[in-house]
Amino acid sequence: MLAVTPIDLSKVNGENIDKEILRFGIIAELDAINLYEQLSENTTDSHIKKVLLDIAREEKEHVGEFKALLYKLDKEQTEMEDSGAKEVEELLEE
Ligand SMILES: [Fe+2]
Repeated sequence: MLAVTPIDLSKVNGENIDKEILRFGIIAELDAINLYEQLSENTTDSHIKKVLLDIAREEKEHVGEFKALLYKLDKEQTEMEDSGAKEVEELLEE
């Protein structure tokens, strides 16, 4: 399940394929963060917990790496994320 790509990349428009690959990478990293954090909450072994949380933290860095590449290819993504962040700030100020 975890090693299967859920999209058929052969059917993706050539100009969008790298964006889709990067988005899929981001999804996989976010999923990994949840997985490692959930596993850490379920172990009683402090060493395992510590390593799982360290790995979860590293996955967050991987998200950043994929996002940095995606932002280079998809300027609209950057703009819309900035817009979303501003919208939240405005909502929280009210
Ligand atoms: Fe990763």
